[in-house]
Amino acid sequence: MSKETDRDKDRQEQSAAKESGKGIGRRDVLQGLSSLPVLGLFGYAVKKQTDYENARPEARRRTSAPSSRPSDINVALLGAGDQGEVLLDAMLKIPGLRFRAICDIWTEYNLRKLVNRLKKYNFDANGYEDYREMLDKERDLDAVVIATPDFWHARQTVDCLQAGKHVYCEKEMSNTLEGARSMVLAARASGKLLQIGHQRRSNPRYLHCYERLLREAGLLGRIVTAHGQWNRSVKPDLGWPQRYAIPEERLKRYGFRSMHQFRNWRWYKGLGGGPIVDLGSHQIDIFNWFLEAKPGHVLASGGTDYYDPATHEWYDTVFAIYEYDTPAGKVRAFYKTQTTNGSQGYFEVFMGDQGTLVISESEAAYSGSIYREVSAPPWDDWVRKGYIAAPRIQEARAEEAGAVLDVRESVSPDEHRIPVELSDPYHKPHLENFFDAIRGTARLNCPAEVGYETAVTVLKVNEAVEAGSRLAFRPEDFEV
Ligand SMILES: NC(=O)c1ccc[n+]([C@@H]2O[C@H](COP(=O)([O-])OP(=O)(O)OC[C@H]3O[C@@H](n4cnc5c(N)ncnc54)[C@H](O)[C@@H]3O)[C@@H](O)[C@H]2O)c1
Repeated sequence: MSKETDRDKDRQEQSAAKESGKGIGRRDVLQGLSSLPVLGLFGYAVKKQTDYENARPEARRRTSAPSSRPSDINVALLGAGDQGEVLLDAMLKIPGLRFRAICDIWTEYNLRKLVNRLKKYNFDANGYEDYREMLDKERDLDAVVIATPDFWHARQTVDCLQAGKHVYCEKEMSNTLEGARSMVLAARASGKLLQIGHQRRSNPRYLHCYERLLREAGLLGRIVTAHGQWNRSVKPDLGWPQRYAIPEERLKRYGFRSMHQFRNWRWYKGLGGGPIVDLGSHQIDIFNWFLEAKPGHVLASGGTDYYDPATHEWYDTVFAIYEYDTPAGKVRAFYKTQTTNGSQGYFEVFMGDQGTLVISESEAAYSGSIYREVSAPPWDDWVRKGYIAAPRIQEARAEEAGAVLDVRESVSPDEHRIPVELSDPYHKPHLENFFDAIRGTARLNCPAEVGYETAVTVLKVNEAVEAGSRLAFRPEDFEV
């Protein structure tokens, strides 16, 4: 008698279900079961959504300024550009925050826009051009959220910390290591909190992968390689409405040569770090986090291959390879940014001898999958526990599609979806973690020291491109 395999059962059940019109097979049942034990995490998403739903109508109903409660946190936003707006919109969904001030040197445009946005929520926030004036006048601020260009982060963070404020500062922590180091030291000296904006560190799906799939279940086995990318389509330089141009004297006062440079600061040396720092810092941070290590070496190739180097001083294309010595052995991690083709977007991949993890902040493009090597021990227990969904069996799909496998080919590993979704804006959990830490109910997920390690790891790539050689990190490079 032939042995009935799981796949045979699946096929029989699927055709029986089709015939009966019920449409429920064993795999569906397994998938249903697999979602139960992670209700904690789904519960998180639902709760956050409920908080949001509750917070918004309340804000809209108010007719006078929201009254203060002892646990309310007085917040200022420093830098009201694209990311400042994203962070403000996320913060407006977090209960218990009082928005007291916004500071931005583009007073006639970005500053006005976000001060007016807050009015709609009945927050009468004061607008400032100069953050030092804001710190002088807004004595009861508890926290400042900084989203200015990278070259301003160190000065502003240090001044805010020294003024006794907790700080959430966007990545890249600083465009220089001296700047990043001064931020760590100021946080320590002030005793205030400094969270760096690597928001994946608070994303429930990334946390699930790290804590449950890698640390607890060890599903990948011995990780040997990792890779990641951020592919972006060609984009024109950023412009500005001419009638709102900043006067030249003010631009110069804040370190910008022209409106073009002010709008496109990321591409300029001394202001930003180019796409490898801007985009790569998010994902290279995940290499360090998931591998629980810092790299020993990096080699890189890059250049301004496509855009005009006069306006794109940093490289539009970079390929980098890191070498990590982890307790389990050597890991080589490849990362690339390209800004001339957006195909396949952005993701990170970790490959071990028992499985492969594919993850991205972009759930729409990559909903998160883990693939079991055919030689690995079964993952049924982890499916039952709800850590991963039941598999989509690749071999069966190939057969269904009528594909012919060469006998020497490895059978594609089965794909298991990761059953944790973030239904909130990407940055909300990281901001919540910051505010919870201020209230003493959480620990920061990306404190200054962690942000510093990532800055050391990422900024070295530009150095390696310039040097045209493989550069070494010393363990003490990561310490402050
Ligand atoms: N975490 C993320 O996903 C993410 C995404 C995008 C950007 N960022 C980071 O956020 C920061 C801002 O990026 P962006 O895209 O919003 O840039 P942006 O150019 O759109 O905005 C920067 C804003 O800062 C203001 N500004 C410049 N110098 C200032 C100063 N000295 N004082 C006060 N305001 C000043 C500008 O007028 C502008 O409104 C950067 O550090 C960037 O790396 C993070």
